Amino acid sequence: MTTGSDLPSIAVLGSINMDLVTTTDRRPEPGATVLGTGFATVPGGKGANQAVAASRAGARVEFLGAVGDDVFAPELRGTLIAAGVGVRGLRTVPGPSGVAAIVVDASGENSIIVVGGANASFAEPTERDLAIVAEADILLCQLEIPIATVARAVAHAAVNGTTVLLNPSPVTRLPANLWADVDVAVVNSGEARELGAALDIVPHVVTTLGGDGARYRGPDGQAASCPSPRVEVVDTTGAGDSFTGALAASWHRGTDYALAYACAAGALATTRLGASASIPTAAAIESLLDQPRFARETPKKH
Ligand code: RIB
Repeated sequence: MTTGSDLPSIAVLGSINMDLVTTTDRRPEPGATVLGTGFATVPGGKGANQAVAASRAGARVEFLGAVGDDVFAPELRGTLIAAGVGVRGLRTVPGPSGVAAIVVDASGENSIIVVGGANASFAEPTERDLAIVAEADILLCQLEIPIATVARAVAHAAVNGTTVLLNPSPVTRLPANLWADVDVAVVNSGEARELGAALDIVPHVVTTLGGDGARYRGPDGQAASCPSPRVEVVDTTGAGDSFTGALAASWHRGTDYALAYACAAGALATTRLGASASIPTAAAIESLLDQPRFARETPKKH
């Protein structure tokens, strides 16, 4: 494990998808057909997005996940490598890669359907995966791969002193013993509502509030909040992943700094179309934080 001023090392366990992104003025009602304004394929998946975000935000990152043997796989793998993410734990399995059908409307809001593909067949971490988890400072997970795989890695992290950061999305019920090993949960307000008391045993809970920023609750009830910088929103896809990866990368700098850093990363991710394509670098995040208007709006203690 790294200490002191070394770059934090993060093992990201999760999904990697090809996002099939359609833009339209308004999303169709059930049964309706509307005309689209554009289409693009953009690498995504909550796990891969968070890995790219943590790496661009300055962490050393290894990704643990699965792609298929289809036409999308080389680009998905290449996107991680181009972002400086280690792919020792990225396996290729027979069949299709994960895909996400995404519709983005004129306000930048989206609807997403994920088909797991290779992600769903990542049934068990290997010994090498577990060694990567044990060596990392932080294990970062979401819930787009089988829960049993997440649970195994989280338990291994806990016994090896690796901090566990969980983004429980898409939200689902988890076993209580998994929650007991989570150090930091990052949820949006809908997820927070759905999970309710399950979050009470998590020492650090960060709740994202979209354009209103984020709030934090610490182990002794400490509370802080951070506004989101005002930006021109193009597409909110991947903004939560950008936030979460940046939070993990800056967690060692203290919660106030990490909250502001993550809010800036999440806001910047909304200014471009696509998930991985819109994730900002450390330089872009720091430059936004340095802007006088945002610098005045540092996290508030409650
Ligand atoms: O959080 C956004 C991501 O959710 C998209 O990239 C899509 O692949 C789904 O996993």
